[in-house]
Amino acid sequence: MANLTTNFIGIKSPNPFWLASAPPTDKEYNVVRAFKAGWGGVVWKTLGAEGPPVVNVNGPRYGAVWGADRRLLGLNNIELITDRPLEVNLREIKQVKRDWPDRALVVSLMVPCDEESWKAILRHVEDTEADGVELNFGCPHGMSERGMGSAVGQVPEYIEMVTRWVKSHSRMPCIVKLTPNIADIRKPAEAAKRGGADAVSLINTINSITSVNLDTFSPEPMIDGKGAHGGYCGPAVKPIALNMVAEIARSPETHGLPISGIGGVTTWRDAVEFMTLGAGTVQVCTAAMTYGFGIIKELTAGLSQYMDEKGFTSVDQLVGRAVPNITDWQYLNLNYVAKAKINQDLCISCGRCYAACEDTSHQAISMSPDRKFEVMDDECVACNLCVNVCPVADCITMEPMAKGSVDPRTGETVGDYANWTTHPNNPMAKAAE
Ligand SMILES: Cc1cc2nc3c(=O)[nH]c(=O)nc-3n(C[C@H](O)[C@H](O)[C@H](O)COP(=O)(O)O)c2cc1C
Repeated sequence: MANLTTNFIGIKSPNPFWLASAPPTDKEYNVVRAFKAGWGGVVWKTLGAEGPPVVNVNGPRYGAVWGADRRLLGLNNIELITDRPLEVNLREIKQVKRDWPDRALVVSLMVPCDEESWKAILRHVEDTEADGVELNFGCPHGMSERGMGSAVGQVPEYIEMVTRWVKSHSRMPCIVKLTPNIADIRKPAEAAKRGGADAVSLINTINSITSVNLDTFSPEPMIDGKGAHGGYCGPAVKPIALNMVAEIARSPETHGLPISGIGGVTTWRDAVEFMTLGAGTVQVCTAAMTYGFGIIKELTAGLSQYMDEKGFTSVDQLVGRAVPNITDWQYLNLNYVAKAKINQDLCISCGRCYAACEDTSHQAISMSPDRKFEVMDDECVACNLCVNVCPVADCITMEPMAKGSVDPRTGETVGDYANWTTHPNNPMAKAAE
């Protein structure tokens, strides 16, 4: 049986699945049920400094984007950090850590950008004996207007400065949570590293307006006729999150910096993808909010079975495994040739591949009078659009041509794949040297 235990920057958990800082982790009642269900750890809903209470809206705080089957693809929220009193949260955190010593309990923090505020809250958190802190430099609404959250996360100098304060006033491991609302994710990650962060976590939510009410002409969720941008998350953001994780994992400046991957993780496959791109743990929010804490059973069972099938004995063996295979476009092998192939036994003759290829792509699919669809290899550029629009899984596949065969489209011989980077026919070979 695969061993799912994880040691992430010294924080141990029985599996790499943590609940992200959000409503599922905002109180003892929730976190205890999550631990009972089997979650390996939690990042407690973000705590703020002592002071005036945080007040949330009293109307709808979530918006959504659905698939055709009404499955939730994207969630948008205008919620703030915890609105529960600091001392109540701290008391509950201490109790939960005492009762569940084998689970990871990280406390998310967001306080004003001055050293005293950070020093004060860190003292309180240290008293709880929590395993670490996560600095919320990510929330894009409500708190950012007050100079916190993504207002800090968008300025690398601030990230470095605050991280340095945290490391100098606390012995706890420190994870810096990054905002994706930035042009180059490597810059804040580098700043976190310079400040002494033990790890980064990403992504927090993406600035978004999910819909506009066409009767009231107000963005949704609508509060008394007005709306504000919110933070987008859920399955729709996973590709963006994966890319950002990969960018940090493969950058020479941040390579090796531990990463906790967040953004759209719903299935064990999503989680493994994050891990192979460099994430040592994954955090989950929207999937738990959509399906409940029970999904942890499928996450752990799926990961365990996958690892057994592939012969991995520890989670660490997966971490970063895909990183060497991420490259820049100029290094892609232009001598690699594939062609689309339609499996006639699976084809339902819907014609979507034909419509897409004929009207918008390369006119490489023929249609017979009895609606038989076939690929013309001398026109096919292997763009993959037919695969993507086909409603039947595995009906259309991309088949690589054998080395030495002739591409009927170009008349060229399919060449030496291995040495393409330095191959004289590669126009980018000089740049690559
Ligand atoms: C309703 C809601 C509240 C959230 N509150 C916080 C928060 O207090 N602190 C924080 O760091 N992230 C917060 N997040 C962001 C999540 O922790 C997570 O980064 C984001 O939702 C992406 O993960 P997901 O796609 O699994 O939801 C919140 C997300 C949602 C949906």
